[in-house]
Amino acid sequence: MTDASKSSANAMWGGRFAEGPDAIMTAINASIGFDQRLYAQDIAGSRAHAAMLAATGIITSSDAAAIGEGLLTVLSEIESGNFTFSTALEDIHLNVESRLTEIIGEPGKRLHTARSRNDQVALDFRLWVRDQCDAAIRGLTDLMRAFLAQAEAGADWVMPGFTHLQTAQPVTWGHHMMAYVEMFARDRSRFEDARRRMNECPLGAAALAGTSFPLNRDMTAQALGFDRPTANSLDSVSDRDFALEFLAASSICAMHLSRFAEELVIWSSAQFRFVRLSDKWTTGSSIMPQKKNPDAAELLRAKLGRILGATVALFTIMKGLPLTYSKDMQEDKEQVFDAADTLMLGLAAMTGMVGDLTANREVLKSAAASGFSTATDLADWLVQRLDLPFRQAHHVTGSLVALAEAQGCDLPDLTLADMNAVHPGITQDVYSVLGVENSVRSRVSYGGTAPDQVRVQISRWKSVLS
Ligand code: ARG
Repeated sequence: MTDASKSSANAMWGGRFAEGPDAIMTAINASIGFDQRLYAQDIAGSRAHAAMLAATGIITSSDAAAIGEGLLTVLSEIESGNFTFSTALEDIHLNVESRLTEIIGEPGKRLHTARSRNDQVALDFRLWVRDQCDAAIRGLTDLMRAFLAQAEAGADWVMPGFTHLQTAQPVTWGHHMMAYVEMFARDRSRFEDARRRMNECPLGAAALAGTSFPLNRDMTAQALGFDRPTANSLDSVSDRDFALEFLAASSICAMHLSRFAEELVIWSSAQFRFVRLSDKWTTGSSIMPQKKNPDAAELLRAKLGRILGATVALFTIMKGLPLTYSKDMQEDKEQVFDAADTLMLGLAAMTGMVGDLTANREVLKSAAASGFSTATDLADWLVQRLDLPFRQAHHVTGSLVALAEAQGCDLPDLTLADMNAVHPGITQDVYSVLGVENSVRSRVSYGGTAPDQVRVQISRWKSVLS
């Protein structure tokens, strides 16, 4: 790193400064250590800006051509690792512009006409976040496909459904997998919504008030893939909603990842044995040879902490800022970079883990049959066949559960005589609803767990995702 200009005034804005900054000021002020990640967006924005400046006659076409070419040289220097980032030059914007001027001379000094770093950073960051929305949408689509494949394989496999992590009613594996497809689909639509809303170009707002130069903001907006230019210059440079929306959507998505991760941790334990995680997504213990630890799932469960932390940090940064730009806003980037990296890694890891997951069908089925999971079916039978009011049916069923518990057996193991002692109207037919397969088959309400209903949802999602 060359820091030749450290003690003298900044070459880019130091006209009124007699002295350079204190070394600690340079350290706290510089963002180049992290915002160099915006180099591609910065260069794309500058190329669009220069082309527009030429098209509107603000600079000459030969200057614009030199700028456009020179920026490509800077791009290739950065991409090939032949670029020296300077802390004295603070950020990616000044680093790129300064190097451009070194390469092409005078024309480089015209690039910053009718522009400020305030609209420049608003643009670069928005372009970067927009790309991350696209990456999240792709990652979520892959993840939904992985859950869909699991659901298809086990649309009618019976497993216990839980409330309070206590056995509630039998459900199907396919139904449980499809619950996550719904959750990740909502996440995907949140990124799509956020992307749509952020797709306005702030370039041309200049420092805060707009500019007296005859810009063509539609031209730069279009060149950079935006729907339109932003409509208020003050808002353009002070807005970080796009980053907050990205973080909020990421937080909700990470919460969903964390919930399934938690289920995997529980399900893969020796006590549950509902699933087997592949060797690719587990680790061994250095002391206990029998162990296969669900580390990837545990880490995914934890990752929300970082993403939500970034969300809270950026809200805290933004909440008290008067319009328009304040340097506080430079603190937005590290939070979003880390959250985005964490989310993309989490989505990829979960997709891999779900793809490699083996459900233990027999264990699921016997677990489904334990814990009096068909008690609701029994109560419903009493209502439908004996015309008992539901509250009374609930009470009779409760007594039968207590009886089974006292005998150390499950509901289908009670004899008819036992049952009749509790309610004389019960007939042999009741046993048909005490089996778990019948139980799930009967839940045919729209969105219910019956395999036929699950298959309806699977084929709907398959056509959406194809
Ligand atoms: N590095 C700054 C940031 O990330 C760029 C904008 C600086 N603008 C300014 N007027 N100092 O926010």
